[in-house]
Amino acid sequence: MSDSFRRRLRALPDFPEDLPAFDPAGAPADPQQLFRDWLDEALAAGVRQPHAFSLATADAAGNLSSRMLILKNLDDSGWHFATARSSRKGRELAANPRAAMNFYWAEQGRQIRVAGAVVLLSDDASARDWAERPSAGGSANPDWQLYALQPVEIEFWQADPGRRHIRHRYDL
Ligand SMILES: Cc1cc2nc3c(=O)[nH]c(=O)nc-3n(C[C@H](O)[C@H](O)[C@H](O)COP(=O)(O)O)c2cc1C
Repeated sequence: MSDSFRRRLRALPDFPEDLPAFDPAGAPADPQQLFRDWLDEALAAGVRQPHAFSLATADAAGNLSSRMLILKNLDDSGWHFATARSSRKGRELAANPRAAMNFYWAEQGRQIRVAGAVVLLSDDASARDWAERPSAGGSANPDWQLYALQPVEIEFWQADPGRRHIRHRYDL
């Protein structure tokens, strides 16, 4: 039984044959610019929810957890996401303000990982984010928090059909 499951997993297709080109030598010096370029290409390629990413956090003892979130913005303060401060991730970020993001776009064989420190953005910005949610309907939520991840490392990864996968790393 478990052997047949193992075989089924082994037989699943991996990356599509038709993958985009990526030459790190031509990549912009600013990783946020490369992310914007890749996001445009993902949307043009029909990737659904390219702004969704997995966020990994840890509590003070180092116990890890992860979940999917939506990227809200990129600016000089960092990579923005929003959640409830009282949630598990909110409590973990209060105890240990560091996190790792991972974006994966299967149709293009692209992965982007971003890790660093997490800071709280302003009450005004958090309230605006809450108000812009489709279900907010004029309500307020004092528990809602906009955060910014300030990267110390970012890696763009491009799958290659010949398995010479390409990595482009920024140390900040
Ligand atoms: C694609 C996707 C996007 C999501 N976006 C958010 C988000 O932006 N903010 C949020 O708080 N939860 C979002 N969620 C729900 C979280 O994954 C998670 O279930 C919830 O925030 C509770 O996480 P926690 O218990 O680890 O704190 C999203 C889930 C999915 C699948």
